[in-house]
Amino acid sequence: MEFKIKSGDLATQKTPCLILGLFEKRKLSGPAETVDEASGGHLSEVLRKGDLDGETARTLMLYGVPGLACERVLLVGCGKGKEFDRRSYRKAVGAAVSLLDKAGTRAALCTLPELVPEGMDLYRTVRDAVTTYADKVYRFDQTKGEKKPTRSPLKRLDVWVSKKEDTKTAQQAVDQGTAIAQGIALAKDLGNLPGNICTPGYLADTAIALGKDSAKLRVEVLEKKDMEKLGMGALLSVARGSRQPPKFITMEYRGGKEGAKPLVLVGKGLTFDAGGISLKPSAEMDEMKFDMCGGASVLGAMKAALELKLPINLVGVIPASENLPDGNANKPGDIVTSLSGQTIEILNTDAEGRLILCDALTYCERFEPAAVIDMATLTGACVVALGKHPCGLFTQDEKLAAEILAAGDAAGDRAWRMPLWDDYQEELDSNFADMANIGSRWGGAITAACFLSRYTKKYPWAHLDIAGVAWLSGKEKGATGRPVSLLTEILLERSG
Ligand code: BES
Ligand code: MN
Ligand code: ZN
Repeated sequence: MEFKIKSGDLATQKTPCLILGLFEKRKLSGPAETVDEASGGHLSEVLRKGDLDGETARTLMLYGVPGLACERVLLVGCGKGKEFDRRSYRKAVGAAVSLLDKAGTRAALCTLPELVPEGMDLYRTVRDAVTTYADKVYRFDQTKGEKKPTRSPLKRLDVWVSKKEDTKTAQQAVDQGTAIAQGIALAKDLGNLPGNICTPGYLADTAIALGKDSAKLRVEVLEKKDMEKLGMGALLSVARGSRQPPKFITMEYRGGKEGAKPLVLVGKGLTFDAGGISLKPSAEMDEMKFDMCGGASVLGAMKAALELKLPINLVGVIPASENLPDGNANKPGDIVTSLSGQTIEILNTDAEGRLILCDALTYCERFEPAAVIDMATLTGACVVALGKHPCGLFTQDEKLAAEILAAGDAAGDRAWRMPLWDDYQEELDSNFADMANIGSRWGGAITAACFLSRYTKKYPWAHLDIAGVAWLSGKEKGATGRPVSLLTEILLERSG
């Protein structure tokens, strides 16, 4: 992964492939127009033959274009000029990268970042080019027996800027984009690993390995007996049905001013969720290996923060466990005592995420957080409510809400706010304990957030339900690395 910023005459750029944008109907983008002139109108002449209209992500490769130093030209459709937005921009970049990577082209020079859609700027287009590139060339083959030799994939994507004075901005976008991409790749790898490899212990080892990379990062892993001493009865109850010991991972990164209150990120690290005694149906149950993606996003954001050496105090907390049926497992009706002292009647053992998170959220108090944000693949109901595009944001803190929504918009990794009104709280009433772990059939993402809110009274707090965004299903099955971009945006913003 390598990105150099180039500027100056396009005709004389030596590159295996020059990537140019084309809008409908056959309207050359600015850089493409310049190249067309340099080639004596060759591009327009080819386009007149009608092979490419400019539809988003359609491509046409041209060889032997006269008057240019490049080996070939790739024309990429960007859609209708008037409708050009971030989505079509990413699709166009993605199409170019995929084509070249599959073809085995080693390097290319991309002019698409100069086409800045409404609401974006050059920093954003360059950064998106980097993260889109990384997304397209990402391969997960750790668990393949037969390792296909990677045949010379696209190793280098240079970025062309029209004004030399934009080089600094573009370079910053490359640096930050690269760090974010590394964080995303870590989160994807962890998500994609199966439950028999990516266990709570594996997550802990990953955190410990991160700690070895930086003197500013202190990693601590609490074992079952430590959690027992503390009184994490809710978390421990979830782990009862599992042969894998639970781990409670904390990562303290001190990059900021001494004494400055840290931002704390908490991630659900449920390495496999079979539902427990309230067993899930078997269809697509394999996807519950992704139930640790909240935890993976904490590790991913931490990785990006380390890469960028951000001047910020950041704590990552990952309660990690499996949720399996067993003779020793939680049973419906069981009552457990959480670290906060509040008791919980477990009416459904499949609502386990909130049980491991509530103890983690209470534990966070000791960090005297500036704010706590938790990420969790918490409810199927959130996917029903919002689909698979935004994650659900729940908070009663207006400032934090505005910050997170803005970060999601800026990063192109969006959140959508959901209500967290007290009207829903009574659904958690229990006849036998301080609360039940489930509400009614309706608004399940909201009652889950209401449950967590009872453990977060001592600091500003927001919850992101990432069940719809953390992975893709079907042919594209795999972790997305979301919401590492959103989180890193917050870290960058808080770094000033
Ligand atoms: N990890 C699941 C949530 C989930 C399910 C995410 C399917 C994505 C796809 C969580 O632990 C869970 O099982 N939640 C239950 C809660 C219910 C029992 C109140 C759910 O959503 O069905
Ligand atoms: Mn569950
Ligand atoms: Zn779960």
